[in-house]
Amino acid sequence: MSQWIGTANKSYASYAMEELRRQFESISITQLSPGEAFLFEVPLEQEAVLASIKAEQPIFLRHLQPVDVVRSISADADDLDWLSDWIRLSRGKLEGKRAGVHVRKAEGSPYPYSAADTKAVAAAMLEQCGAEPEQKHPEILVAVYASRDTLYAGIGTPAEMLSDWPGGAVRFQKEEGQISRAKFKLLEAEREFGLDYASFRNAVDIGAAPGGWTSLLLERGLRVTAIDPAELHPSLLAYRTLTVLRKNAAEVSFQPGAFDLLVCDMSWSPMQMTKLVLDLVPALQQGGTAIVTVKLMHRKPLQTIREVKSRLSAAFDILGARQLFHNREEMTLYLKKK
Ligand SMILES: C[S@@+](CC[C@H](N)C(=O)[O-])C[C@H]1O[C@@H](n2cnc3c(N)ncnc32)[C@H](O)[C@@H]1O
Repeated sequence: MSQWIGTANKSYASYAMEELRRQFESISITQLSPGEAFLFEVPLEQEAVLASIKAEQPIFLRHLQPVDVVRSISADADDLDWLSDWIRLSRGKLEGKRAGVHVRKAEGSPYPYSAADTKAVAAAMLEQCGAEPEQKHPEILVAVYASRDTLYAGIGTPAEMLSDWPGGAVRFQKEEGQISRAKFKLLEAEREFGLDYASFRNAVDIGAAPGGWTSLLLERGLRVTAIDPAELHPSLLAYRTLTVLRKNAAEVSFQPGAFDLLVCDMSWSPMQMTKLVLDLVPALQQGGTAIVTVKLMHRKPLQTIREVKSRLSAAFDILGARQLFHNREEMTLYLKKK
């Protein structure tokens, strides 16, 4: 038997739960933070659950925290003492490793310490255990979740927890003059899918305005063809590597194999988006990459995603399908042209 805390984007926890119910028989689930975080228990050991999650690659489960120990919050210094004792007893998992500490507090939790204070105490204990406290590139994570009455703590690698950010909430620094927050989606996709946009040469950006995605690709040195009937931010027009087509993407055509990267972030129905991307497939080189957001305005996101994937798989291998932290009513697909 093992216990876990699952986290999804706000309002999408029910879909993460649905994915897990399909994956694990006899799962029991309790809500922790409405619509977002939940506790689940399965009659399998941790290793078996991790292997299954790795094989299935859930879309909506953004973060997975193992629950190794549990304590009723006493809302005083005993909570921190307990945490320190547990870290000390976990020396075997931590010694000689770069270890990060993640602390999350549900709204209304009586746990009295800030994340910073908890991390400081945990870091001192990690040093005593022969671990090196490290937030940027940890090999192992100590994760603590304080609910409305209980502290849950567990140890795992960033890969096992599906993220190296607390709760999978990936934060990027907002830059001065940044054109749109949408840029964060493409940045997160690069991290999530292990890509390097600088390794591509010619990109087409479908539904490009106001230009957050286009700006990122231009900054990485790509030539970009941006398609959108709406206007791009004027700051982009100085790029000589940018071609702007102020058109509906259904009306454009290109030389075969003109691009090695296709990105599409249209606020359009998933099926129309799918058709449009498929129509533009000849313009993508064989083996070319596509990053596509799928809007989930409908009541049945799992079914929508299944249908979109099934249609796109006529032309693409589907290498990744995730709801990213920076996705709102949507998810992101990572595709490779067959
Ligand atoms: C969410 S915005 C894209 C934001 C963009 N990725 C960024 O980083 O700034 C969606 C865009 O899709 C465009 N769009 C919708 N339907 C389109 C179509 N058929 N052809 C081209 N662009 C379209 C809209 O005009 C809108 O500017």
